[in-house]
Amino acid sequence: MYDKEFLMIPGPTPVPERVLLALAKHPIGHRSKEFSAILRRVEEGLKWVFQTKSDVHIYTSSGTGAMCSAIGNLVNQGDKVLCLIIGNFGKRWAKIAKMRGAEVIELEVPYGKAINPDDLKEILDKDVNKEIKIVTMTHNETSTGVTNPVKELAALIKNHGAISVVDGITSLGALECRMDEWGIDVLISGSQKGFMIPPGLAFLAANDRAFEVHKKCVYPDFYFNWTDYKKNLEKDTTPWTPAVNLIVALDSALEMMKEEGLDNIFARHKENAMLLRQGIKDMGLKLFVEDEKIASYAITAVLPPEGVSVPDIRKTLKEKYDITVANGQNDLKDKIFRMGTLGFVSRRDVLTALASLKETIDELKK
Ligand SMILES: Cc1ncc(COP(=O)(O)O)c(C=O)c1O
Repeated sequence: MYDKEFLMIPGPTPVPERVLLALAKHPIGHRSKEFSAILRRVEEGLKWVFQTKSDVHIYTSSGTGAMCSAIGNLVNQGDKVLCLIIGNFGKRWAKIAKMRGAEVIELEVPYGKAINPDDLKEILDKDVNKEIKIVTMTHNETSTGVTNPVKELAALIKNHGAISVVDGITSLGALECRMDEWGIDVLISGSQKGFMIPPGLAFLAANDRAFEVHKKCVYPDFYFNWTDYKKNLEKDTTPWTPAVNLIVALDSALEMMKEEGLDNIFARHKENAMLLRQGIKDMGLKLFVEDEKIASYAITAVLPPEGVSVPDIRKTLKEKYDITVANGQNDLKDKIFRMGTLGFVSRRDVLTALASLKETIDELKK
């Protein structure tokens, strides 16, 4: 039905009416006092979500832009970068670092699993000459629905002395992630996920340790240059024309997030994901990630029942129930479908999705 679509993909996620109305405003000048005041407020809000005292840069790009910014401001040719890979998005760090001339070491586990901190410790312990400079990881691996134990992994990296770079694109604003307390050096995210606004903004926070490494970067990125962003933020502005309307929308979304409170946001994501997972199991379907300890509260991957195809499930859900769920990616294409409980999603939405999925499966099995 027109205008009734419910996005259950892991981004873009549904946008609340308050945010949509904020988006409808005329643009204002990005060098104006009014915009600087908004930027200041948004900056404080982002620091609160990131749980950090460091500045949070706001980029006009998708989340991958912030990944390029992290690597492009830290890595020199020949640097050793260890990439912890549990899915497609973890692999993206390795691709970006290779294109920057880094010597990439990959610790990759079968998709559907998380990184075991003992495996990381073993690699770091062997690196007695401290050659590994950067370790990348994905907090919430959207392609599989697995959450990495970032707190433990970041502590090991800090102990070794390397810089930890964490993709929090589908974890911030959904799952607990405490940048300063957990000792994460660089943390990135994107707008179209837990932040409940459309795609187009990416965020990056880098602490003092990361900035020290950045100062030694011989050819830092131009558009995403950390030094430029820092200097401009001190004057409540950005180096280039920012996506003004998206930042106004973000201001509104952060206001909603503050009203709900971070702990309540995390609790809602957990409850919704558990409800969804239980409902799916009750239907007799299998979850791709069965281990509750690593299963994501933002995205749940489901195996189709015998004799029913993923494309048919997605098509029926969309055409008959106005619900869009995601396919699997790459090797998992048509093998799993993924349902997001990320961002502006309520218990009612999950119950509706479960009832719709049940009818869909019953119908397709006939
Ligand atoms: C964990 C993760 N990292 C990176 C990305 C890439 O973000 P974007 O598509 O906004 O560039 C995504 C997108 O879904 C993601 O889920």
